[in-house]
Amino acid sequence: KIAEIRARQVFDSRSNPTVEVDVILQSGAMGRAIVPSGASTGIYEALELRDQDPSRYMGKSVFQAVTNVKDILAPQLIGMDASDQRALDNRMILLDGTENKSRLGANAILGISMAAAKACANQLKMPLYRYLGGAQAHLLPMPMIQIIGGGLHADSVIDLQDFLVIPVGAGSFSQAMEMTYNVYNATKKVYHEHNLDISVSDEGGFWPRFSSNEQAMQILTQGIQYANYIPGQDVAIALDVASSHFYKDQKYHFAAENKEMTTEEFVDILESWVDKYPIISMEDCCAEDDWSGWELVSNRLGQRIQLIGDDLFTTNIQRIQKGVELGVCNSVLIKMNQIGTLTETLDAIEETKKAGYLPVVSARSGETEDTTMVDLCLATNAGQIKVGSIARSERLAKYNELLRIEEELGESGIFARREVFKNILS
Ligand code: PGA
Ligand code: ZN
Repeated sequence: KIAEIRARQVFDSRSNPTVEVDVILQSGAMGRAIVPSGASTGIYEALELRDQDPSRYMGKSVFQAVTNVKDILAPQLIGMDASDQRALDNRMILLDGTENKSRLGANAILGISMAAAKACANQLKMPLYRYLGGAQAHLLPMPMIQIIGGGLHADSVIDLQDFLVIPVGAGSFSQAMEMTYNVYNATKKVYHEHNLDISVSDEGGFWPRFSSNEQAMQILTQGIQYANYIPGQDVAIALDVASSHFYKDQKYHFAAENKEMTTEEFVDILESWVDKYPIISMEDCCAEDDWSGWELVSNRLGQRIQLIGDDLFTTNIQRIQKGVELGVCNSVLIKMNQIGTLTETLDAIEETKKAGYLPVVSARSGETEDTTMVDLCLATNAGQIKVGSIARSERLAKYNELLRIEEELGESGIFARREVFKNILS
């Protein structure tokens, strides 16, 4: 039973305030969770409550969300059985009473939701993934790792947000990390050859001042070769187009290239990239409301590559169902704070799998040392994870935890190799 709930404002990796919650059980066991925060957020996400007071933290403080945990939610939850996660989460959803958790804040609610699960796992002296997933939890995910950052995470130097690699040739999680390390460092040589300066983006990838989106793909492909891997066979490319953020007035806009495209023209370009580069996965190809654009992309590319909906689905079961009915995408990005409770996230993953779509459990661009998303990935045998780059400690906290879990599972752990894509790719 829950004895006490504490909350405070702490900082995330972009130095922005965020919510930390401690849930303490009557036994004394405690769970602590920190809520992450996105920058390129979808409009259908649950609401992250910020104080909007310009005199404090430029409007970004979360003191109200912290107060909501302590004064509104905690008194209603103390005495509840923390192991009944669904009842706990439902109680919070009802107390909030809005469609998008805008009264109490998804950051307040999710903090409690995650911390309660952790307290139960700690009480049972179990890893969180084992507590949530039971004996079945055994699948180490194929990672999708950012090498180059762009879009809203890198001063919009280029329009696309993430240029990532998927080390499809890896035989284990640790080997996948080693291959990614090699590519990350080999691309540095390519930047130098092109006289491109490098700085580090929000998720740890580099963001040279490329002349075009396509130049980033060329350089990444070259980086894979410089690391002595065969592009596509050993290491493939994934893109997060994050196109909602450059879709205006029914047109897609590449600001850096001064280009404006209709949906058809834009999809032609995406397809030409898939023809030219070893791309195996693309996220948010079309904007969050451009369902007909998504149908077009899915018809053209749905058999060739993984098509992930992030802003499109926002981990929301109704939106996932709509996508499945229309036959758009074949994969869903899963972010707990897009929906605001652990239970709804688990339901979204189940719905995704039921439809034969692939779940990709993802971090946010604003992260912390909290590694709950890793446990979620393991617990549900999701098979893929997206954390950002292989630099910055809020990212490495997740990868390092995965390395520990790989060791802990030993023989009983299975790495999701290239086969993770077999159901969607012909
Ligand atoms: P965000 O970016 O956390 O800023 O939304 C991550 C993503 O778009 O996948
Ligand atoms: Zn995304």
